[in-house]
Amino acid sequence: MRLDKYLAHATGLTRSRAHGMIRSGQVTVNGEVIKIIGFKVPDGAEVRWREQSVSPAGKRYFMLNKPIGVVCATSDAEHKTVIDLLDLTNKKGLHVAGRLDIDSTGLVLISDDGEWSHRITSPKHGCDKTYRATLAEALDESAVEQFAAGIELRSETKKTLPAKLEILSPTEVRLTLGEGKYHQVKRMFAALGNRVVALHRERIGSLALDETLLPGQWRELSREEVEALSAQ
Ligand code: URA
Repeated sequence: MRLDKYLAHATGLTRSRAHGMIRSGQVTVNGEVIKIIGFKVPDGAEVRWREQSVSPAGKRYFMLNKPIGVVCATSDAEHKTVIDLLDLTNKKGLHVAGRLDIDSTGLVLISDDGEWSHRITSPKHGCDKTYRATLAEALDESAVEQFAAGIELRSETKKTLPAKLEILSPTEVRLTLGEGKYHQVKRMFAALGNRVVALHRERIGSLALDETLLPGQWRELSREEVEALSAQ
């Protein structure tokens, strides 16, 4: 595809504004500034505009460190959304792959690739998710076995899938789940008579939250990270 068409499709810019961007040297193809509007973009090339990679196929992938008070939705009348935190020109089709509650923090994946998001979140081939939780009450060691055996949640007929619980201190745990029911972590601890007071997602499948991202910050995923997640 010609570079001007590629850029216009990928960003929503008009063709004449895309020409301006290319001619003024704001567009790179595989790391090289290209000022030729009719340049043929090779298949699989990485095109970047204003430091961001753009693609007309609409396949974009981001990780964000969600702060408290922001919701995992595409729009919300009351609260800021994780999509609002992305300072991108074109947000068409972007959605969250696996929500966190408003009072939870940590790793959130955002993409406009519905198939990829489905793979990550679907209970069939979904990825494990790892959380760090702070609890209101000290936890007994026996909880490790209870989580491994599955927990009966209120208003559910089946027990939860085996989960790995690591006790870090009497009120701090790391929990890895292979499924993602509504408010699952909070409900699992509630079933044991405890309460989650802080919840942070550290990892989804092979992907850990980038420690350099402060709450509210985000970055694009590398091609390797995207592929590693889809292969799980
Ligand atoms: N489980 C919860 O209870 N809340 C979250 O935000 C994520 C998992």
